[in-house]
Amino acid sequence: MLEIHLDEDDIDRELRADVRTGLTATPKWLPPKWFYDARGSELFEKITRLPEYYPTRTERSILAERATEFARITEAKTLVELGSGSSEKTRLLLDALLHRGTLGAFVPLDVSGAALEEAVYGLTADYPGLVVRGVVGDMTRHLQHIPEGDNRVVAFLGGTIGNLVPAERATFLSALRGVLHEGEWLLLGTDLVKDPAIVVPAYDDAAGVTADFNRNVLRVINQRLAADFDVDAFAHVALWDAEREWIEMRLRAGSAQRVHIRELGLTVDFAAGEEMRTEISAKFRRDGLEAELARAGFALRHWWTDPAELFGVSLVQAVTVA
Ligand code: SAH
Ligand code: TRP
Repeated sequence: MLEIHLDEDDIDRELRADVRTGLTATPKWLPPKWFYDARGSELFEKITRLPEYYPTRTERSILAERATEFARITEAKTLVELGSGSSEKTRLLLDALLHRGTLGAFVPLDVSGAALEEAVYGLTADYPGLVVRGVVGDMTRHLQHIPEGDNRVVAFLGGTIGNLVPAERATFLSALRGVLHEGEWLLLGTDLVKDPAIVVPAYDDAAGVTADFNRNVLRVINQRLAADFDVDAFAHVALWDAEREWIEMRLRAGSAQRVHIRELGLTVDFAAGEEMRTEISAKFRRDGLEAELARAGFALRHWWTDPAELFGVSLVQAVTVA
């Protein structure tokens, strides 16, 4: 079952506004949620299987080790997943909660209707007793569509919270806290600060899949807004910002480019070598994250990591802020 809070018209309207704002700004930028059309979601799944991309397999190993404990602590009746994509790792949580006997429903929410549809189809087939209710929506705007219920747990995996800039992150966490009742849980996956020699290749792989993924945002704009980006004229750039402790993804124009975005009646010029920001992926430290969560009204109860401390999974509880 799919519930749609974001139809094609909403998407077009938002995309227009975002593209106009980002491409008329100095420096130019584009918001990351537009990577994920059907092709973008497929490319992301390919990224998760790359040897350089350690986050997915590391987070999976942590979830595999902790799933039983997670189920015992939370006894979730409803599991909600934000930015769920394929929900592949989430199956570890579903299995543990079903084994524990508490789970009744799974509610994955994603902006990508294509990815969600496929995930819901597979989950419905593989978990016959479970109510699977997919929500096509934007987690920064549609949290109110998370179904009511008691003992809800929200999973937000993959380090996707790091794709929000710090101010957006604070707003998002407070909004999430606002829809949860005291005592309900958030299971949050965050990539951790580490040697840039490990991080950078995860965002700039040898096979060029990440580069292709990054450029996909230009294809989405070409298709949806009748634009004429010469996609191959833009090079993928991944930079480690040591001060802000995030990876910044950019697209660099290899030569001067004039782009027409017909649906917006907008012409945009790129100088040779001009770079436009498409995504950040922030890396976290336990203390900083714990403080950020506390400011939003979440108390860190469990901190789970892999032996090399590449990735962190936090189990945090909604509390009342004093
Ligand atoms: N949770 C999966 C996928 C991570 S990729 C994993 O851990 O592997 C990020 C996912 O978030 C994509 O499926 C993308 O479509 C979704 N996403 C990005 N921005 C979003 C937004 N604003 N609202 C809802 N989903 C979003
Ligand atoms: N949530 C993923 C991450 O931050 C998203 C991601 C992985 C990504 N590789 C990317 C986003 C490359 C843009 C470009 O790791």
